[in-house]
Amino acid sequence: MKSAQDHSPSTTTYSGLAVHGRNPAIPLSKNAHLLKWVEKMARLTQPDAIHWVDGSREEHDSICGQMVQSGSFIKLNEAIWPGCYYARSDPSDVARVEDRTFICSLSEEAAGPTNHWENPYLMRRKLKRLFDGSMRGRTMYVLPYSMGPVGSPMSQIGVQLTDSPYVVVSMYIMARIGLPVFAEIDKDEKRVVPCMHTVGAPLEATQQDVAWPCNKEKYIVHFPETREIWSYGSGYGGNALLGKKCFALRIASNIARDEGWMAEHMLILGVENPQGEKTYVTAAFPSSCGKTNFAMLIPPAGFEGWKVWTVGDDIAWLKPDAENRLRAINPEAGFFGVAPGTSSKTNPNAMAALSRNTIFTNVALTPEGGVWWEGMTDEPPTECLDWQGQRWTPQIAKETGAKAAHPNSRFTAPASQCPTIDPAWEDPQGVPISAIIFGGRRATTMPLVYQAFNWSAGVYLGATVGSEMTAAAAGTIGKVRRDPMAMLPFCGYHMGDYFRHWIRMQRALSETPRIFSVNWFRKGADGKFIWPGFAENMRILKWIIDRTHGRALGQETPIGWMPRYEDIEWQGLEFPKETFTQLQAVDRNSWKSEVLGHEELFIELHDRLPPEIVYERELLICRL
Ligand code: OXD
Ligand code: MN
Repeated sequence: MKSAQDHSPSTTTYSGLAVHGRNPAIPLSKNAHLLKWVEKMARLTQPDAIHWVDGSREEHDSICGQMVQSGSFIKLNEAIWPGCYYARSDPSDVARVEDRTFICSLSEEAAGPTNHWENPYLMRRKLKRLFDGSMRGRTMYVLPYSMGPVGSPMSQIGVQLTDSPYVVVSMYIMARIGLPVFAEIDKDEKRVVPCMHTVGAPLEATQQDVAWPCNKEKYIVHFPETREIWSYGSGYGGNALLGKKCFALRIASNIARDEGWMAEHMLILGVENPQGEKTYVTAAFPSSCGKTNFAMLIPPAGFEGWKVWTVGDDIAWLKPDAENRLRAINPEAGFFGVAPGTSSKTNPNAMAALSRNTIFTNVALTPEGGVWWEGMTDEPPTECLDWQGQRWTPQIAKETGAKAAHPNSRFTAPASQCPTIDPAWEDPQGVPISAIIFGGRRATTMPLVYQAFNWSAGVYLGATVGSEMTAAAAGTIGKVRRDPMAMLPFCGYHMGDYFRHWIRMQRALSETPRIFSVNWFRKGADGKFIWPGFAENMRILKWIIDRTHGRALGQETPIGWMPRYEDIEWQGLEFPKETFTQLQAVDRNSWKSEVLGHEELFIELHDRLPPEIVYERELLICRL
């Protein structure tokens, strides 16, 4: 084996295209551990070539060009979608696979009952067998990435070895990658999280590749103690872009617990009032509940002079600063947003962000070389190719119910292109957080908004979030499942310990953010949403902001503080008081069943549930 100092091409020779005169097989790092690990993994997976990713524009264009040639990408019409590419996944590889996601801690107890656990020793043996020769006929990319601005004290570094060029060019958008990250690694100051990824589809010498290689068998595996990620068989989203759910949530939640900070499934936004006062909040909603729309909200009529700034739409890392104030960074650099329902009406900022340099996956392709999805325009195209490449027309949809775009089709767009991106979004110190909002998709029971009485009541509120399931994960759509802090699929350790960590964070903070619950999705007897949502959510956000500054009144109810009708700014919207009362109703009988619903999860977590959660539950029952 080569010595770690030898920077000549590795044992595997490069057979692909040289990138702007550089031989990509030549390592771009001097870090001995990294070089050794790459060698070892190349011996295991046996790729035809190794490509060290420098992160340059030339390299990006060269990889995209190769993907267009191989049929994995279609270049969209440059005149209407500049710098954009289109991909269709295999129909079996369209969402995160929670039932194939494993937390392989040393003890089963540490992973807890909400995670799938397997003995790490046995899992390593299994993975070794699966990864053995898994990259034959393909290029192994060495992709260094920083979650958070490069060099920020709040950032973390990973290196993903992957045989998927789609993943590489997606990570160009979703994270900070390439040479600056290798330079950080070479400083040897931060632990690097090794991330192994293969689509699990080795190519034999004469075998023709497919547009979206993957394997029916899938494993998304985390080793929390050694901070490692191994992903096998999928090329889609959170299964494959390992910086996102695997690192920034499952592994980072373990690091955060050990180091006294928080890794959360939360958007971050800043509200600026006409006087120029800026207040930042985070919000945790389960997948596909409108986090991206809320993060990019445009204030409605009646809110002239107000502005909402976007810091992030999916993940927040929150840490106490030197003055013990909670500050947050968005560890990501892009948006991996659900396309259906996104339009110039529902989210003009997202539409602007995705208007160029974006990768579209599983949406429909129009004859002009553009994209379309359900809800994008009032009028559908007269015809297009659907997400599986089949001819689609509005008539076919009417007759068969066929969707042009898969319900979990996505855009991968640079955050910097969002018109409301906050000037401080890359501040290495993060932004100060004044409020935390929890919410879910609930047709009944949950009011539009209320504030928890205090931090521990707020932790209880977050711990009992429930939501109707959506297409972001494989499962039964519409069923209410408990999704504590929207972290059920993403907490990398025992959920009871996670609640305890939340409770403990209070001691590390000079002032805790206020905690709120919102529900945009309550329905009336006619089955229709009562609240108009979208831009009108600003009215609720304003009350929340005013509460954090001690400027708004709240009325005490059994579940928390609630605004009265007159505490909400209604200028620009006709909204009858009776409808607001209906939205805010706390029906004691429904709430009694709700509390029983909380038990479903708590019974499982019982032996690690912090006492505060038990007491909060008792207090709630007493008040009801
Ligand atoms: C996501 C998810 O893709 O939560 O953000 O599923
Ligand atoms: Mn998410």
